[in-house]
Amino acid sequence: MISEVQKEIMRLKKEKDACILAHSYVAHEILETADFTGDSYALSVKAKTAPQKTVIMVGVRFMAETVKILSPDKKVILANDGAGCPMAEQMDRELILRVKEKYPDYKVVAYINTTAELKTVCDVCVTSSSAVKIVKQLPDKNILFIPDCNLGAYVAQQVPEKNIKLLQGGCPVHASVNEEEVLQAKKKHPNALLLVHPECTVEVVKHADFVGSTSGIMEFAKKSDCKEFIIGTEISIAEHLQYECPDKMFYYLSQKLICKNMKLSTLYDVYNALVGRSGLEIVMDGDTVVKARKCIDEMIRLGG
Ligand code: 13P
Ligand code: SF4
Repeated sequence: MISEVQKEIMRLKKEKDACILAHSYVAHEILETADFTGDSYALSVKAKTAPQKTVIMVGVRFMAETVKILSPDKKVILANDGAGCPMAEQMDRELILRVKEKYPDYKVVAYINTTAELKTVCDVCVTSSSAVKIVKQLPDKNILFIPDCNLGAYVAQQVPEKNIKLLQGGCPVHASVNEEEVLQAKKKHPNALLLVHPECTVEVVKHADFVGSTSGIMEFAKKSDCKEFIIGTEISIAEHLQYECPDKMFYYLSQKLICKNMKLSTLYDVYNALVGRSGLEIVMDGDTVVKARKCIDEMIRLGG
């Protein structure tokens, strides 16, 4: 049953000409109020076409920045101003400029989990669902893949014809799972398929029956004839799947797979952002928008 707060959010969206974009990691009650939900790639594409003047992003900061880059004339508000992504903050522009000086003939491929500022010095963005497809299509052989060395290693494995250089960055949540936990989970649920996000380490990914983005994992599980799944990404995905597919069983790969930043946003934050009481409005100078946009446009061109 829809709650009073949800009803009020629905009313306010119309009154304020606002749309809500929510990443699949956020709570179910928030997803129910959203105009669009999905993985980072789906949200970036939707951000471009949403007709509303205001966008409330329920996710983490780099996602709200991506919306602002693609729609600089829109008012973009991150529902909870403390929701950042630790991976996006790991490397700054100056570091990458120094690395580029050392490797001038490398194309810089940036995971979308990066700041707008860092994107200004990169050549093309990728998401977990488009990384392999995009890197394959690049005419260049030498690739510097930042910041996630686990996603980068997975791409390197899938596209062996490229020479891919990695730096030591990654998602602290996904990278916290170890191989022992995989073996334990498989032993406990011998009939389950293991579905894993490529932000997990190579030792974990090598045991997977399917590797994909959050949306990719959800789609796979829904379509599959199998009845049991171990979910190797943020625990919310197992919960959403259990809700949507009550005839199947979903198990967490690890209890450690909790992204505190994604859990920060509440339904009340969404309400408060709509009435202008809280949230962070994303403000970006024109130069950053233009430079960062190049690599996001390139991602959409190659990934669509
Ligand atoms: P996707 O949404 O691309 O699967 O990435 C997951 C993630 O880590 C979001 O921060
Ligand atoms: Fe960032 Fe990892 Fe959380 Fe995704 S799950 S927002 S990559 S810390």
